[in-house]
Amino acid sequence: MKIAVVGATGMVGNVMLEVLEERNFPITELLLVASERSVGKTINYRGTDYTVIGLQDAVNQKPDIALFSAGGATSVEWAPKFAEVGTTVVDNSSAWRMDPSKKLVVPEINAGELSTADKIIANPNCSTIQMVVALAPLHKKYGIKRLVISTYQSISGTGVKAVQQLENEYQGIKGEMAYPYPIHRNALPHCDVFEDNGYTKEEMKPVNETRKILNDDSIAVTATAVRIPVAGGHSESINIEFEKDFDVDEVRKLLHETDGVVVKDNLETNTYPMPIYAEGKDDVFVGRIRRDESQKNSLNMWVVSDNLRKGAATNTIQIAEYLMEKELV
Ligand SMILES: NC(=O)c1ccc[n+]([C@@H]2O[C@H](COP(=O)([O-])OP(=O)(O)OC[C@H]3O[C@@H](n4cnc5c(N)ncnc54)[C@H](OP(=O)(O)O)[C@@H]3O)[C@@H](O)[C@H]2O)c1
Repeated sequence: MKIAVVGATGMVGNVMLEVLEERNFPITELLLVASERSVGKTINYRGTDYTVIGLQDAVNQKPDIALFSAGGATSVEWAPKFAEVGTTVVDNSSAWRMDPSKKLVVPEINAGELSTADKIIANPNCSTIQMVVALAPLHKKYGIKRLVISTYQSISGTGVKAVQQLENEYQGIKGEMAYPYPIHRNALPHCDVFEDNGYTKEEMKPVNETRKILNDDSIAVTATAVRIPVAGGHSESINIEFEKDFDVDEVRKLLHETDGVVVKDNLETNTYPMPIYAEGKDDVFVGRIRRDESQKNSLNMWVVSDNLRKGAATNTIQIAEYLMEKELV
């Protein structure tokens, strides 16, 4: 496979290269692409130095698959240009997620919807991916009526600029700010930009994307997204109201049997998911599974995953693996 990684110098791009190597993805030719600022820089992959190239150069080389993580504006402009030359684009930005003509894919749930006609495939938002991996089997069994989500999101979810801001704040250096306030010793109830309805764009992503991935517009969803000074790994408190009643042990068993989910839930040993354990791993960790005693058919759980891996790079590469396996590229 001739593979292009677009945004190869960024946080997600970097992890993509790690994941491609770990999973031994069969690459015959690798194109590393970034903005004009980075053209000519070198990046090492499996012991070979690759020179970063620009977008037009990459289109001209007609890769089989282009893995995009270079922001929405780049995707809007360039994904169609790659698609035109026959490349299949798997895009990490929010540009195409809610486009009705594009598939929004979490392989464990809906990769089966993909066909050779899909030339631009959207990867969901990091908070959505980890949540739906855990929710899909529960939705199937008990029917989800309503979700109340609170996220505790790491700074790596914002990109390199935010990681630098926190590093500067640790060291007392005044530098460029990714956020309107300090993030060190703080919690910002403000992820991405505010919309007219008073929610942030990040809060509306799980609302819309969950319905699209689970293929059920009747699910009511409300979210509050908070940025916290954690380096890697998003955490989520999820309150779920089901149509049908459930048994908590059965929920635990169902999650235990779900691909991509690891249940970490033992109060006697203080076992529960935390970002420090999730960072660097591909699984979605679920714990603190308990009945919501304030409302009928309702459950609380705590879900943690590495936003750069399952939340971005790993999910993208799993989509690429599926395309290859099913000969869709
Ligand atoms: N971080 C996460 O957890 C996460 C999770 C899911 C999705 N995403 C999405 O993935 C994308 C990248 O996020 P990130 O965190 O990796 O950001 P980042 O660290 O800021 O990296 C951005 C990358 O995009 C490239 N880029 C920027 N403008 C470009 C342009 N005009 N043309 C070509 N390349 C350009 C940058 O190249 P230069 O180095 O040359 O500037 C860099 O490689 C975003 O769309 C983000 O929403 C991120």
